[in-house]
Amino acid sequence: MTDALHRDLLELAQEAARRAGELLRDGRPADLAVARTKSSPIDVVTEMDIAAEKLITDLISGRRPDDGFLGEEGAAAPGTSGVRWVIDPLDGTVNYLYGLPTWAVSIAAQQDGETVAGVVAAPMRGETYHAVLGGGAWATGAWEGERALACRPAPPLEQALVSTGFNYVTEVRAHQAEVAARLIPLLRDIRRGGSAAIDLCDVACGRLDGYYERGLNAWDFAAGDLIAREAGALVGGRAGERPSRELTVAGSPGVFEPLQGLLEDFGAWHD
Ligand code: IPD
Ligand code: CA
Ligand code: CA
Repeated sequence: MTDALHRDLLELAQEAARRAGELLRDGRPADLAVARTKSSPIDVVTEMDIAAEKLITDLISGRRPDDGFLGEEGAAAPGTSGVRWVIDPLDGTVNYLYGLPTWAVSIAAQQDGETVAGVVAAPMRGETYHAVLGGGAWATGAWEGERALACRPAPPLEQALVSTGFNYVTEVRAHQAEVAARLIPLLRDIRRGGSAAIDLCDVACGRLDGYYERGLNAWDFAAGDLIAREAGALVGGRAGERPSRELTVAGSPGVFEPLQGLLEDFGAWHD
């Protein structure tokens, strides 16, 4: 029976996400600058992304030295325990750089490749979302205790509010813009929040009917995927597949399916 382990992993993820969130919120330098770039000149990393990942991996490896890591800013270790931590220390870096509030710390714990606990902390919202496999999805905030999360009852697709994101690579984002242009007339509207982890949690909270994006990495969606599914949403990639770099789609049952179908028709997963 692994439920006790899953709870332990959740508690450690919550502590790490809370401490990294405090570091990012309280330690953001007024003159925050770009430390380096990655896939393109607009794919930026700040000193705070790096500091937050170090805080998280130091904390977790101090408690669980045999676990593996996959972190956006370079944490990579296979581990020997069967548990691997998938970490985006700062999801929404461009928002953070500009002082916009939509950014999060995303931490997932996987056991033998399956996400069993996930935490997304959004400090500027004063909210943290979490889930354990089979245990529902929950939020904590400026209220007493935990609130259960449930995705929104599905409207007809033409009344669905759907979020998306754009990749840092020019050719990919140009194609994504073409797909979005074809979708807009078929939906209530489109949002671009700037944090994939928060988008997935907003589906879980019933603040969005759906979300999709091409080009995500595991650290962007691992925690939010579990939180959205535990809130009753459907999350996948192309038909019958799990979310991947190719495509991530999430939505209330009734929104997810037609949205996934349109994305297939529009070739949203490739140029
Ligand atoms: C990005 C955000 C953004 C999404 C990008 C991601 P980062 O993560 O989640 O919303 O559109 O695809 O790369 O770079 O801020 O960690
Ligand atoms: Ca990210
Ligand atoms: Ca990041």
